Amino acid sequence: EGSTIYIPVVFHIVLKNPNLVTDAQIQAQIDRLNIDYAGLNPDSTLIPARFKPYFAKPNIQFKLAQRNANDEPSDGIDRVTTAIDNFTIDDIRVKYAALGGADAWDHNRFFNVWIADLGQQYLGYSTFPNSSPAAEDGVVIKYTTLPGNPGVYGKGRTLTHETGHFFYLYHIWGDEPDCAADDFIDDTPLQGNYTSGCSHPNDPCTPDSKGGVMYQNFMDYTDDACMVMFTLEQKNRMETSANLYRPSLVA
Ligand code: ARG
Ligand code: ZN
Ligand code: CA
Repeated sequence: EGSTIYIPVVFHIVLKNPNLVTDAQIQAQIDRLNIDYAGLNPDSTLIPARFKPYFAKPNIQFKLAQRNANDEPSDGIDRVTTAIDNFTIDDIRVKYAALGGADAWDHNRFFNVWIADLGQQYLGYSTFPNSSPAAEDGVVIKYTTLPGNPGVYGKGRTLTHETGHFFYLYHIWGDEPDCAADDFIDDTPLQGNYTSGCSHPNDPCTPDSKGGVMYQNFMDYTDDACMVMFTLEQKNRMETSANLYRPSLVA
């Protein structure tokens, strides 16, 4: 067990009415993130017995920034009014004030999370370490994914999932519908395709006769209510990549 890493977070709320997202919702979202990363989520009871030995508690926690990029006192919540109805996936406009979004705060000092309307198709997306310009480094989530929203994606777990990508986790099924594609994590079973909803009968790569796939993992596409765990190796990969690729964020 290493010591806990504390990541300062800034939430950029970029909406036609940014007050639609309240401070209480932001607090609930960061609580959700911290509970999930601490492995303190009560719904971890959904983990089947055969996967319990792999249930991990990553030593990563998050706190709202208390200073802004100019070192002035801040609550870590940045509200920006935009004229853009909705953004789409990998839409850089949300990350630039000049294009109708909000500028990142120095990515060496802050984990940037943009909250925006992404229309009907997308819940969120993330950059991987060293994959994008500094000004675009971070996570974007749809505002309706914050805790307290209706629907199967309204419990705040999109940010748990996207933050996994931010720390270099891949989707559990390896993003290809075949059994050769892997997530580079040994303690997640090979999985042919993503899971929708809350069950995954008889995956061709790890059929039920061999125990079945780990659709309870945060890096699947399961409903918020059914994704409940990271594994030991995912914890290790996230902690390692945090120290390796994001050392100043961790310090
Ligand atoms: N589709 C998105 C992604 O690939 C997010 C999926 C989040 N799932 C959820 N149950 N909140 O990053
Ligand atoms: Zn994803
Ligand atoms: Ca695996």
